[in-house]
Amino acid sequence: MAKLNNLSLEEKLHRKYENIYTGIFEDADIASKWVAGEIAALIKEKAGKNETCVLGLATGSSPIGVYKELVHLHQTQGLSFKNVVTFNLDEYYPMTPDRQQSYVYFMHEHLFDHIDIPSENINIPDGTKAVHEIYEFCQAYEQKIQVFGGLDLQILGIGRTGHIGFNEPGSSLNSPTRLISLDSITIADAAGDFYSIENVPTRAITMGIETIMAAKRIILMAWGEKKATVIKEAVEGPIVDHLPASYLQMHANVQFILDQPAASELTRIGWPWLVRECSWDDKLEKKATAWLCQKLDKPILKLTNRDYNDTGLSGLLAERGSAYNINIKVFNSFQHTITGWPGGKPNESDKYRPERTEPFPKKVLVFSPHPDDDMFAMGGTLIRLVEQGHQVHVAYQTSGNIAVSDDDVILFVEFIKGFENEFNKDAKVQNEWVKHVKDFIKNKKPGDVDIEEVRKIKTLIRKGESTSAGRFVGIPDENIHFMNMPFYETGTIKKADLSNIDVQLVVDLMKEIKPHQIFAAGDLTDPHGTHRKCLNAITKALNILKDEAWIKNTWVWLYKGPWQELKLSEADMAVPLSPEELKKKRTAIFLHRTQKETLHPGHENKEIWRHIEERNIATAKIYDKLGMAEYEAMEVFAKYII
Ligand code: F6R
Repeated sequence: MAKLNNLSLEEKLHRKYENIYTGIFEDADIASKWVAGEIAALIKEKAGKNETCVLGLATGSSPIGVYKELVHLHQTQGLSFKNVVTFNLDEYYPMTPDRQQSYVYFMHEHLFDHIDIPSENINIPDGTKAVHEIYEFCQAYEQKIQVFGGLDLQILGIGRTGHIGFNEPGSSLNSPTRLISLDSITIADAAGDFYSIENVPTRAITMGIETIMAAKRIILMAWGEKKATVIKEAVEGPIVDHLPASYLQMHANVQFILDQPAASELTRIGWPWLVRECSWDDKLEKKATAWLCQKLDKPILKLTNRDYNDTGLSGLLAERGSAYNINIKVFNSFQHTITGWPGGKPNESDKYRPERTEPFPKKVLVFSPHPDDDMFAMGGTLIRLVEQGHQVHVAYQTSGNIAVSDDDVILFVEFIKGFENEFNKDAKVQNEWVKHVKDFIKNKKPGDVDIEEVRKIKTLIRKGESTSAGRFVGIPDENIHFMNMPFYETGTIKKADLSNIDVQLVVDLMKEIKPHQIFAAGDLTDPHGTHRKCLNAITKALNILKDEAWIKNTWVWLYKGPWQELKLSEADMAVPLSPEELKKKRTAIFLHRTQKETLHPGHENKEIWRHIEERNIATAKIYDKLGMAEYEAMEVFAKYII
């Protein structure tokens, strides 16, 4: 892959905002295979010369696909790691290697246990050292890298703080391997792996920026929308110590390997008219016009020829003839996404509405990855669909049991015990069983997998909460489906791969209901996460069913989970909510009692419900600013073409 300075003039102009070479791949799997191919080629090249290949390795979700492919190459093509020496970037502190969250555990699970690397060639910072020993340990770690001639290739992920390794904002360019304090955003991001934020270590040992920068070649990987902003800043922004990844702009041989969502905020992808002549389709025209409104703080119908000309949109203007032509078309296009009738309005023309009038009422199937995503993302729309007389079904794809706290389990088992003592004195009191559960929780260490009884209780709690929330918005109990997709039931944060059994469950439910409308979480964030897998199961099921007669009459709408909102130019339906509906939505969310205080993964101190409420209000404000009617809040959806 080329470096920035080797590119043609035209390519350089396309990338004129970029200070680091970026390679954008269709998806994370394809990109991971490419990275693994580069590593394999380097190992072989070195082996051919009888040399040692020194690799700097990372943990986290980003390199998992790379390690999987390397294992595959070892198993199927005999790629040998005998000449490889590895140095991992970091380790939590304090941390013992036997804990599931340790990076030693991670590396063995994903790579080392499946390849032929000699164990003495593996180096990972030691989280068991006493504090006073760490300085010396770090010095020795650096020296050992030097003894092997330095890192031939360093693999990196990037944190949302812009950290590389665990070099958090503020790390200096000449920082060595050392003990550091983790940023609160990094701690919040790791909370899932440790089951709660309180269990996350606040410190780590990390290779320094200087150590990383000394590598002969660096590949940084980033997948998913949640990395898009930090990638833009690191690639296009100034070099600043509050964004350590921006230091990489100074490295002579670095590539950022991205999937499309992670690249989506780069200027050449998100705002292509700023770097080249575009071929204008309706979507791009809409996106550019909305961007112009926000940039100039003007509603669509007030944009002038000059506004388009002065801001890099003269190509669009020339093609469409006048600002007036563009404005009217884009205004109508936004206007026609707004509907208070998400299931279609009966007895009215649907020419300018996002949903069809017929059939009415519709059978609606709402897929929700966890038992609550439906309310968070589309509670207001659900309320409208039910009130407007549609037959609404909700399908909870996973049990969501991981997210219930042990305290809630204790509360419920004590209730069961009290209930038995109070009302069922003759029955054999279930003290033994209750004691078993309570003892387990008492002795449970952070990260221990729950015993089956505890998992079942947690599943039941979420089932009860979702049923009461569904009931509150008027969905009959028999229309609430709990799919318990098996890929989720590992008892740990790490989920299994999606299997045919998972997909078949979706196929069966779709066949049973034969919905006219499907709603699903369309999250591209977090490629290894539950939402993505749930969406994959749905798209696979739709593909299996594509020849069934009824599915030709099924429309699919995608909503976004808590991480990201749809870009407005991608929204094909916007459902306005009145202040009362917004309040009702909040009440429905609160019926998910054990979840309502869950913090938003991207905001340290904000609950998800609060974040989403603000997001719904912000969406309505943007529509208002574009010159549409002013609503209290809005939920938006993108149409998915089967
Ligand atoms: C891991 C590491 C971190 C991660 C970064 C991204 O060894 O040093 O810098 O690469 O936090 O993590 P993921 O890949 O999980 O998004």
